[in-house]
Amino acid sequence: MRILGIETTCDETAAAVLEDGRRLLSSEVYSQIELHQRYNGVVPELASRAHAEKIAAVIHTALSYPGSPYERGNASHENRPVDAVAFARGPGLPGALLVGKVAAHAVAEMYGVPLIGVNHLEGHIFACELSSEGKDNPLSYPLVALTVSGGHTELWLMRGPGRYKILGKTRDDAAGEAFDKIAKLLGLGYPGGPLIEKYAKEGNPHAVEFPRPFMPGTWEFSFSGLKTSVSYYLRDAKTINNADICASFQAAVVDTLVSKTIKAALQFGVRHIAVGGGVSANSALRETLTEKARKRGLSVRFVEKKFCTDNGAMIALAGYKKLIEPACRDLSVKIDPCLKVRSWRAD
Ligand code: KG4
Ligand code: ZN
Repeated sequence: MRILGIETTCDETAAAVLEDGRRLLSSEVYSQIELHQRYNGVVPELASRAHAEKIAAVIHTALSYPGSPYERGNASHENRPVDAVAFARGPGLPGALLVGKVAAHAVAEMYGVPLIGVNHLEGHIFACELSSEGKDNPLSYPLVALTVSGGHTELWLMRGPGRYKILGKTRDDAAGEAFDKIAKLLGLGYPGGPLIEKYAKEGNPHAVEFPRPFMPGTWEFSFSGLKTSVSYYLRDAKTINNADICASFQAAVVDTLVSKTIKAALQFGVRHIAVGGGVSANSALRETLTEKARKRGLSVRFVEKKFCTDNGAMIALAGYKKLIEPACRDLSVKIDPCLKVRSWRAD
């Protein structure tokens, strides 16, 4: 079962072919970072146009995996390069999602294969199972899933694929958005996460004790107060040491994410944690969560770094789950910019 996964929710135009949910036959990511850099954030209209310009070339490269009938020039309904096409139908930017859907629909029609609409955030968590060596890497359930990306910060209780309870989300900024905004305030560039991580390595995480937005009594997050606190500090400080500010800000975000995630795992009596999304590439988050979880007897799975940010392989894998897991069978292919995972009645 070879699935073409197409990802266009935000600022990466990506496509990949994944065989049997495990072997990655190809993966192509065209990043629009340069396009958005001068605005310090994603401009939706520019993103849609860039997706429309690049999607055909990205899919062409993905379908040209070694030995593909498409590569040999004799692909047809009978001799097809893929057995299904999955695309991210949400959450994401409306115009960007439409480009992915139209392209996915065209390829599915061309080869007479099923079209599968998947949730981008599910893709981020399933990506924990992706391995560049094609290893079998199944997640263990039940688990607490933390999705931390540029647009989302969500904590779920997962009983299995397709069986979720959303515990909490961010009330305002997503974790990645907070990294991007602080990088903008410091004039470091875009995207902020990797740049803040780089500066933080040289800084003191205790230099400034920024607030930890723990939001007691809820599983929700809120990062806008932390952002305001950093901006007041920058306004009032006599000298500014970028490395110290980055390290102190990063420590505040990491402490918040780690403490809530571990607390949720303990409270719901699960032994496994899975973390996905662009911010999960952050080394401080990976190290702190791994260490604190180990002390509480919990296991943590992260996505391989190269699959943390948006890519087609995670969408192909989410599509594969839809085909093989009965609880994942939601057949809609409508785009939905605010798509939520379906909540399973907690058992
Ligand atoms: O998952 P993703 O590629 O796109 C969305 O679905 O939003 O995540 C992008 C986000 C950006 O906000 C970026 O700054 C953040 O992930 N990010 C990081 C790191 N690498 C990417 N944040 C912290 N540390 C990193 N190393
Ligand atoms: Zn994402």
